[in-house]
Amino acid sequence: MAKFSSSIPNGLITLDGKSETPLYRQLYDCLRRAILKGQLAPGTRLQSSREIAKELNVSRNTVVNAFEQLLAEGYLEGQVGSGTYVSRALPEEFLNVKAITRSSARTLVRGPGLSKRGQIFAAFADSLPRSSERVRAFQSGVPALDSFPFEVWSKIAARYWRRPADNLLGYGEPQGLAPLRRAIASYLGVARAVRCTPEQVIIVDGAQMAFDLIARVLLDPGDTAWMEEPGYLGARAALIASGARLVYVPVDSEGLDVAAGARLDASARLIYVTPSHQFPLGMTMSLPRRLALLEWASRASAWVMEDDFDSEYRYEGRPIASLQGLDTDGRVVYIGTFSKFLFPSLRLGYIVAPEALVDAFLAARSMSGRHSPSVEQAILTDFIDEGHFGRHIRRMRTLYAERQKYLIDALEKECGHLLEVEPSAAGIQLVAWLPEGLDDKAVSREAAAHNVEARPMSIFYAEESPRGGLELGYAAFNKYEIRRGAVQLSAAIRSCIEMNRRTRRRRAS
Ligand SMILES: Cc1ncc(COP(=O)(O)O)c(C=O)c1O
Repeated sequence: MAKFSSSIPNGLITLDGKSETPLYRQLYDCLRRAILKGQLAPGTRLQSSREIAKELNVSRNTVVNAFEQLLAEGYLEGQVGSGTYVSRALPEEFLNVKAITRSSARTLVRGPGLSKRGQIFAAFADSLPRSSERVRAFQSGVPALDSFPFEVWSKIAARYWRRPADNLLGYGEPQGLAPLRRAIASYLGVARAVRCTPEQVIIVDGAQMAFDLIARVLLDPGDTAWMEEPGYLGARAALIASGARLVYVPVDSEGLDVAAGARLDASARLIYVTPSHQFPLGMTMSLPRRLALLEWASRASAWVMEDDFDSEYRYEGRPIASLQGLDTDGRVVYIGTFSKFLFPSLRLGYIVAPEALVDAFLAARSMSGRHSPSVEQAILTDFIDEGHFGRHIRRMRTLYAERQKYLIDALEKECGHLLEVEPSAAGIQLVAWLPEGLDDKAVSREAAAHNVEARPMSIFYAEESPRGGLELGYAAFNKYEIRRGAVQLSAAIRSCIEMNRRTRRRRAS
């Protein structure tokens, strides 16, 4: 522990007596921010709660409540009343946030400054998705890395790397390798009822690049785009970064509510949807809704961006056919990715563009890094053509159904009434709802402190989320990891409930 005592520097804490946010919460936010930014260094001894209360002219209870929350979340250590210090070992999660926050300082550019688009990008600097050094339960969006057929992949890779053909080492086609585009077009026709030729397929570095290209090619700054509410953060960010004005259209049990969208704003030029498996809630868009969406898009001359990210993983019945296959008006731009079927760092995905858009997308793709790595594309082509891709998906479908069941059983046993788990008919993650009154962001932070990941559902809502919940990935974890994760998650939720109870008791007294 540090031997010195330090008062909190001037200006780090500003409290607003008129705000609806309780004072203890404001104080908690200020201290947490200062710790994450490094303004309060690890090991710093804080003044006593009595001294701080006096300095800020608030009740001691306010300070004690803020301290207790920070102690519980691992930002502070020690004990209120006998010396409180900024934690020396902040949880890994928090250090990552700190690194990102530091990077935002770099965006305070001198000289002529940022463009308007640059300013929009800079606003995202604090919320970039983080890489994970290790995948831990229940990180979502990650497939079973332990079950990938590395021997097959590395054999094919060795074949190419032994003596790569010149065309794989020089500059490649912006559109992607022709054999890969042929393999994708034929797979999509059979598996997803997508109607396309290989000339409509453009290889990109994952779905995220597709969102960005599509938004930049089809939207002018200020144009309106409909975004599913709740919806995928990567797509939302790419649309905002393109300068679009987003209208958040609710989803219900049938998927995107087209009539609600039309009422909210009928001027949309682009609509983002996940019809096969809504992200994050998991429902499938009904046929009447699909037809209504296509009809509305045709009438409004709007484009539909179909994100078909994990639809092969369906555990009840057959995978649902794509929206693109129903489109007779060339409105749908279809996006696929190999992130969930192979592994995310491969960074390979594709756009299936209506013929009229192919040239513009191609030029835009070429401006963004020219083309995707050729040898990886060649390896992937053989992996698909030799039948390994189909086999891997079939094996994973069985494995993920088992892992989901195992997760549901483990949550039932360890968390019982603390979570209302929604089994998912598809995909690689599920939603578990929290009891009323629990803040899902606080639970998620507490879970991180218990070494378990549980993304709060509220982050997927642009507006107020109706209920707190957690998104839990299961595909990447074996039975042991799932069981241990469930035990840790249960402890995290119980600790949040206890903290809430203490806070209520204190307020009442
Ligand atoms: C809804 C959705 N779309 C797309 C993706 C995949 O993105 P990428 O291909 O960029 O890895 C994800 C990954 O989590 C997702 O959840």
